[in-house]
Amino acid sequence: MSQDSTTVGGHYIAGEWVTPSGETFESENPATGETLGRFGRATSGDVDRAIDAAAEAFADWRGLSHVDRAEYLWEIYHELRDRTDELGAVVTNECGKEINEGRADVVEAAHMVEWAAGDARHPKGDVVPSEIAAKDAYMRRKPRGVVGCITPWNFPVAIPFWQMAVALVEGNTVVWKPAEQTPRCGQIVAELFESAGIPDGVFNMVQGFGDAGAAIVDSDAVDTVLFTGSAEVGHEIADQVASQPGTRAACEMGGKNAVVITANADIETAVRSAVLSSFKTTGQRCVSSERLIVHEDVYKEFKSRFVDVAQRVSVGDPLDESTFMGPLIEAQHKEKVTTYNDLAREEGVEVLVDRTDLDPDEIPDGHEAGHWVGPFVYEADPDAELRCTREEVFGPHVALLPYNGDIERAVEIQNDTEYGLAGAIISEDYREINYYRDHAELGLAYGNLPCIGAEVQLPFGGVKKSGNGYPSAREVIEAVTDRTAWTLNNAEGIELAQGLSADLKTDDT
Ligand code: UN1
Repeated sequence: MSQDSTTVGGHYIAGEWVTPSGETFESENPATGETLGRFGRATSGDVDRAIDAAAEAFADWRGLSHVDRAEYLWEIYHELRDRTDELGAVVTNECGKEINEGRADVVEAAHMVEWAAGDARHPKGDVVPSEIAAKDAYMRRKPRGVVGCITPWNFPVAIPFWQMAVALVEGNTVVWKPAEQTPRCGQIVAELFESAGIPDGVFNMVQGFGDAGAAIVDSDAVDTVLFTGSAEVGHEIADQVASQPGTRAACEMGGKNAVVITANADIETAVRSAVLSSFKTTGQRCVSSERLIVHEDVYKEFKSRFVDVAQRVSVGDPLDESTFMGPLIEAQHKEKVTTYNDLAREEGVEVLVDRTDLDPDEIPDGHEAGHWVGPFVYEADPDAELRCTREEVFGPHVALLPYNGDIERAVEIQNDTEYGLAGAIISEDYREINYYRDHAELGLAYGNLPCIGAEVQLPFGGVKKSGNGYPSAREVIEAVTDRTAWTLNNAEGIELAQGLSADLKTDDT
């Protein structure tokens, strides 16, 4: 039975919609303040029931072939494709991304499902030569068991599938907690699994807050935790899981990402890449750029063109095709971005654009209760020890950092951060590009492009404080499977590698 927004949205556990008994919470449209629905807040008991259901379903699910498991995902793939416009609007209404980005979220989810389901028919593992002619050696992957998924609001359809699609095709069962800001998207994704007829308990969804996420992380019955979100929470999860032998955590966290614009940049490419990197999704991608490192030879021209766009870029109704930036996700986040803009001023930077508080006539009618903010752009010294140029804001808060010198100097500034998620270089000089490629401390690096827009068939993850060594998207397979090195002897006697004797020696021989 599906729920609609007039009732309290429940949890999906063991193939049933569970009517929540306790506390509830609301989903809010961040552009209007309108309530989109009421949802039950999972207790640790609800989470435990979902984990038990997943653990029970594991044996039968892993017993199916990859191809049979993928059939359920193909159903979902077709739904995502057929309903892209409808679901894109749901994403936009609940998380405020403008409509083109709402659709792209659903398209990215479809791509991930397509990758995972298609991969079911691809060759698996390696056949490895043995020193012994009669031995067959190869690598096999086994599912880990119950995978707990904790996902953010900014990609409420794509990121859940980054985590769940490969996990399921590989034979794991899943307990998923969507972000508390986007429960409606969570419910719709659960309905997709329900309509695909996925066996009971293979996919479970609990709505709720950090305490429900913590109950997933705490459980001994969860074998892998997949988390995408803030560095603060991700590191806490990774630390906790490190003390639970046998449990694995794959954490995708934030960035203080930069675009490097060298003296050899094409300025049109530079301005366009910087605007897309900094302002798309209102700066609320973990790959969004909050630092623009610009060579002094092109600084004046770049600055004047970038500032001009930042002053004029359209902020408004995310359902309107002519909008570039929708609202921030919630009031608390508007408060955080505003505080960082104030902090930058206090730290003495030179403010170039300040649209923290939009003019009332910029806010569309009926959207007065939205969480609006426009670009905030400033110039700062790349060597100054400032919090505003070092801490992730997750908003349209952008520092221009002029530099002089060679590409080594630009990359030194790029790397002068605790984070290492995404970045880009804009240059027409291949030597500069290659130096950047080899030395920028990043998981996702781009040349002559914005630092957003990664595709699912690449690994998605960061280094340093941005990741813990298990990238997501295609590469999530490493977090949700264990590899076995399997060797079979086809001879009648035993012969060992490395010249090891297989003779048994006893006292009487
Ligand atoms: C995120 O930044 O939160 O690379 C995810 C991109 C998207 C995914 C972003 N494909 O911009």
